[in-house]
Amino acid sequence: MKNSLSSVWSCNEWDPLEEVIVGSVEGAMVPEFDEAVRAITPDHAEPFFREYGGKPFPEEMIEKGTQELDGLAKVLTDLGVKVRRPDPIPFSVEYQTPWWKSRGLYAAMPRDVFMVFGDTIIEAPMAWRTRYFEHLAYRPLMNEYFEKGGRWLVAPKSAMAEGFYDVSYNPDEPIVNGEKRFVITENDIAFDAADFIRCGKDVFVQKSNVTNEKGIEWVRRHVGPEFTIHEVEFDDAHPMHIDTTIVPLAPGKILVNPEWVKKLPSIFDSWEVLVAPPPTKSEDKALYFSSDWLTINTLSIDEKRIIVEEQEQPLIDALTKWGFEPIPIPFRNFYPFGGSVHCATLDIRRKGTLESYF
Ligand code: NVA
Repeated sequence: MKNSLSSVWSCNEWDPLEEVIVGSVEGAMVPEFDEAVRAITPDHAEPFFREYGGKPFPEEMIEKGTQELDGLAKVLTDLGVKVRRPDPIPFSVEYQTPWWKSRGLYAAMPRDVFMVFGDTIIEAPMAWRTRYFEHLAYRPLMNEYFEKGGRWLVAPKSAMAEGFYDVSYNPDEPIVNGEKRFVITENDIAFDAADFIRCGKDVFVQKSNVTNEKGIEWVRRHVGPEFTIHEVEFDDAHPMHIDTTIVPLAPGKILVNPEWVKKLPSIFDSWEVLVAPPPTKSEDKALYFSSDWLTINTLSIDEKRIIVEEQEQPLIDALTKWGFEPIPIPFRNFYPFGGSVHCATLDIRRKGTLESYF
């Protein structure tokens, strides 16, 4: 493990941010409404997928989303953070493997595809066919980080062929005999990076509709003994990505979504738990991939300053009361792509050292 002088270095969610990737919605495609998408889609979103599945996102949505991403990039640059952007690949081109055909999705959410453990970037295998080649939008950046001394670990990709998705999975009955079920099986390694969240030497991960036991075990074996990977489970019946459930904000301080976190794992007993206020509701309900809890999908600049969506006033007030310095930005038009500021970014370099906070 190198020190913080490496081109790649990030150990937690709150050390002072120095370099970040901000996603792009250029060429973004709406996925087909297949079983993988159906598993995590709010009911009100189904007509949108039925109308646009396999087609580009409407132009107006792309324009507004782009404006907000560019705005985020400017705010970060003005704060002295080096901002990098992906090179979107042609997501509309149909591709084929020996077993299936698909089109791509987008390069909007670098957080889903990569995670940084110290000086190592881990490239996730992903679990949606639409995301099979998404990593290539970041290939020039990854080559650069590698050339500058970063380590780059690529997880084996599933064939995503027959047997990878559980065709008997019923999203209306996600819990069977008291046990949570998922749309992906264990027949191959699968994880999205956004199911992991880092607190130094301790990293938390949930099993989800895109992350299976084998995927978690792959990460555990490859990051080595310096890191402890804790598997945690919350009350989200359709989990996909942990960063609207728990958000560590500083050493000993964690923001939680009270709807899905009835009880935190006991390792957090000595931490201060900040219970997020109810999210403000999106006027047009255009949350096609996610819950209203995008509210807490924030990005920390350091232990005090946090980028928050500007309409989330109850959260802004609560953070201020807790001693943080929220930086509100407009980001509501990005929500329909399935994330907020945390999803849309990937911290490549933060100051600091690898510590234990428990
Ligand atoms: N699936 C979660 C995370 C989205 C970023 C949600 O709907 O809140």
